[in-house]
Amino acid sequence: QFEMSSQKIGIVGSGLIGRAWAMLFAAAGYRVQLYDILESQLSLALQELDKDLHGLEEKGSLRGSLRASEQFALIEVTTRLEELTRQAVHIQECVPEVLQLKRSLYTQLDELLEEQTVVASSTSTFMPSLYSEGLKRRQQMLVAHPLNPPYFIPLVEIVPAPWTSPQSVERTHNLMLTIGQRPVTLKKEIQGFATNRIQYAILNEVWRLVGSGILSVADVDRVLSQGLGLRYALLGSLETAHLNAPGGVADYFQRFGGEISAVSATYGETPNTKEDRETLEEIARQCEQLVPLESLEERRVTRDEFLTQLAKLKKLFE
Ligand code: NAI
Repeated sequence: QFEMSSQKIGIVGSGLIGRAWAMLFAAAGYRVQLYDILESQLSLALQELDKDLHGLEEKGSLRGSLRASEQFALIEVTTRLEELTRQAVHIQECVPEVLQLKRSLYTQLDELLEEQTVVASSTSTFMPSLYSEGLKRRQQMLVAHPLNPPYFIPLVEIVPAPWTSPQSVERTHNLMLTIGQRPVTLKKEIQGFATNRIQYAILNEVWRLVGSGILSVADVDRVLSQGLGLRYALLGSLETAHLNAPGGVADYFQRFGGEISAVSATYGETPNTKEDRETLEEIARQCEQLVPLESLEERRVTRDEFLTQLAKLKKLFE
């Protein structure tokens, strides 16, 4: 296995998402080099990785066929960008979500990138054209957006800029498959990609239902966690529709399409979730009753533990 894939993967930024990618690539036997501007951040990242990998191994949730210590041995660190770019097949960029920061990093990378390297940004909001325009190596740049926590949620959205080469897209898609993630490739870039477009549509309606006093925060969240979410954990909304009418999806929309349009016409304005202080305060008050701020981390850990179990069950379903 070591020989099979001893290619080098570079990771820029060793925060939450950079470390998650490091674990995903090491699990598949890749050599991983982590780069950060802060030496202290890198030593902290190594400690965290060591702890996390062994923790996963103890729980029987470690990915791949290598032991935790073998995976950890595949990960090294550097504070030199020119070392990171050397002989890397793929670079996964995970610096903070600040456009100026990304732009200046990509400008530096543009000078250092070798021919064979594809650079994928983990960004959840910036279309790849926003930071790669005008660069010499822009054909080798795209977005590969994971969902948190990437170790347990396999989706990766691959988003090309208008100038990204088809080979870069295909290679990234295949690489994600190789490490056990489930990529979807957008044909072209669009704001919010697919995940956030759908997520925001849900958040908007949830906001309106709470804001107009129709449902409490606990109840509106139950609609997903005890209802729709259970189906969606297994199937998408279209296959769900397909299974919900005797004649499949065409029949479904013939039967319910009129109702869907009629209800959709009553949604009203898109809420301004930043400016509508009244609803925001109400939502925050109720959320903090459900999960106090000091318990957020504990709740995240519990969620991740159960996501592991769910991921195992889901594998059986597929
Ligand atoms: P983070 O703040 O945990 O980590 C960022 C790391 O980048 C830090 O270690 C920092 O020292 C380092 N850094 C800062 N400037 C740098 C530079 N110029 N060169 C190299 N390293 C630098 O951030 P996080 O949460 O890991 O996010 C990284 C990216 O992943 C962002 O683009 C974010 O949108 C995306 N993302 C985050 C998700 C999340 O839930 N946190 C989910 C999906 C994507």
